[in-house]
Amino acid sequence: MIGVFDSGFGGLTILRSIRLHLPEYDYVYLGDNARTPYGSRSFEVVYEYTWQAVRYLFSQGCHLVILACNTASAKALRSIQQLRLPEVWASEPYGVQPGLHRVLGVIRPTVEAIGSYTKTKHVGVLATEGTVLSESYPIEIHKLYADMSVVQQACPMWVPLIENNEFEGSGADYFVDKYLYELLDRDPEIDTILLACTHYPLLLDKIRASLSRRGVDPNKMHLLSQGSLVAESLRSYLHRHEQIEQACTSRGIVRYLTTESDTKFSKLAELFMGEPVEASHVELE
Ligand code: DGL
Repeated sequence: MIGVFDSGFGGLTILRSIRLHLPEYDYVYLGDNARTPYGSRSFEVVYEYTWQAVRYLFSQGCHLVILACNTASAKALRSIQQLRLPEVWASEPYGVQPGLHRVLGVIRPTVEAIGSYTKTKHVGVLATEGTVLSESYPIEIHKLYADMSVVQQACPMWVPLIENNEFEGSGADYFVDKYLYELLDRDPEIDTILLACTHYPLLLDKIRASLSRRGVDPNKMHLLSQGSLVAESLRSYLHRHEQIEQACTSRGIVRYLTTESDTKFSKLAELFMGEPVEASHVELE
């Protein structure tokens, strides 16, 4: 099965797109809702929590895990790939062929796509505080597009609004305007805004309305969500890695796991997925 991990509900926006593009495979979604948000936590804590989650998904039969979370991708992916995976490959305690376990993130696929959207070469990145401080986006974008201007803005209140199901109410407008206008004030030439947190697509309607309030035509601003970019990148990865693709089971099913209350998770996850969700509670350690 393919594991999809996020600190909470945000990764469901990625899972939904992946399932639309690649419905044939089986997925296990794990949300660490009990410990969300990750965005303001230290490198060490995000790394430890993310590694616990990845190990858990490996133990559930996932050989391929997607970190559907920018904060975890920014703070934990490289260390897991460089330090932890070689240990797993050396012993393969989960009973699969040596070298089969892999962990992928969401930053690289997003950055690769950016160049085909911006005309002004001025890009805005909205993300959690952790992702912004990691500088992962400016660093990765400049590796591919050296002359691109990148302005980042942390949006610390957005994830709590979503995790608490307050993202559709009028109270959310204040915080959407606040962070969006701070970004645009710093660089009025921005024509592409990257929603670099997997929770943020749930605020897309609010972001469009906020742009209109500011006198910016939302149809002229590229608002990039990561779902389809990550899904297409996964498709290409599986195409290029035959052994990993062949180890994927394909009955088209999905299991949901959460570290919080399973009934609470199922209720909100149904809204995000647009279908019935029956989650199970798990403990990570
Ligand atoms: N959805 C996550 C991201 O993409 C993390 C949100 C959080 O836990 O702060 O960054």
